[in-house]
Amino acid sequence: MEIERHWKRIPKTSESRTENHQSQPLQTYKIFNNTRIVTEAWYPILPSRKLKKMKSHSFKIGAQRIVLFRGDDRVVRALDAFCPHMGADLGRGEVTGNEIRCYFHRWKYDAQGNLSEIPCKSKLPFNLKIQNYDTQEAYGFIWVYAGKKAPYPVPKPPGLEGLSVEGRLLIKTKLFVHHHVLMASAIDIQHFASVHNLHADFSHEIEIPVEDNYTWKVMGKLNENGVRNRIVSWFLGQQFGYRALFSGGSIVSISYGENQRFRGRVNGMKLPTPHVLWGCVPHSDGVSDAYVFIVQKKNNGIWGEVKSKVNFVFSIVLLAWLKDDDVKAFPRMRFQAQNLIDLDASVAKLISLTEKLKVSLWSFKN
Ligand code: FES
Ligand SMILES: [Fe+2]
Repeated sequence: MEIERHWKRIPKTSESRTENHQSQPLQTYKIFNNTRIVTEAWYPILPSRKLKKMKSHSFKIGAQRIVLFRGDDRVVRALDAFCPHMGADLGRGEVTGNEIRCYFHRWKYDAQGNLSEIPCKSKLPFNLKIQNYDTQEAYGFIWVYAGKKAPYPVPKPPGLEGLSVEGRLLIKTKLFVHHHVLMASAIDIQHFASVHNLHADFSHEIEIPVEDNYTWKVMGKLNENGVRNRIVSWFLGQQFGYRALFSGGSIVSISYGENQRFRGRVNGMKLPTPHVLWGCVPHSDGVSDAYVFIVQKKNNGIWGEVKSKVNFVFSIVLLAWLKDDDVKAFPRMRFQAQNLIDLDASVAKLISLTEKLKVSLWSFKN
């Protein structure tokens, strides 16, 4: 109890990055856990309902300020936020039709960021273009891609590809580490026993990557250690597994127990598959926000709605069971992966794959 209180009092900062430099130099990577880098990926910005038609909103990720605006056609667009005339923030501008007009001298830019009008000039003296970014609305949120054209849409969790899905935000939470560390814990085999008290023999494999998307399949065979293990194996049978999809270094989505049957019996009732998606947004101080979405196949009709609700509740129960313990490790953690053992192979692999991702224009200049 005393320890619990102590951890709750720890200042929630990323201060540990600046500590112990003489005796324990901070290991830095080109991309992984690097607070100067924003990868080319999808980032959740704000709930769709918060950006009304004909309104704009400016936000910052990494070194970049971006303006979002929703035009007359209800489509959301994203541009670099500073007006190329004298640099006013277009977030203060006025949306007109599907274009945005700067507040300061009323210059107007179209949906792609091209200068379309200077009020005191009948003819444009030059062509100007503001960098534009891809946007998408998914799971009730506006997402922006840190690049002009996204090579893939906002991902769906494994097993839901090609299906019509629905998702909703469960919670927004502050991680007191860089989000790559959270992502690594999704396939950190060792921590299942040490943190979640889940004793099993694990194996893992990676499916063929598509663009910057890597899917991991993790399989576990539970042994009989402890009450928790016995309860879980009574319910699921001895074998269980999940797939985790890592997208662009900003999103991890997990589908738990696809094809899992009650008590692991071939003719047992098919158990719901919770699909959870974490969309992460880095901050320059090394702390990230994580938006946790529950995603599922769209079910129609009354029975479909009941099924959706059951799935939703089942997902929350599972998350509540898994969540707590991971987050406790993060405050005052300074990620180092220097002395790894064979059980850490999946984490080492994730780091090496993350190092291959593309660095976006939103990163800080070194
Ligand atoms: S600063 Fe935008 S129009 Fe002048
Ligand atoms: Fe965990």
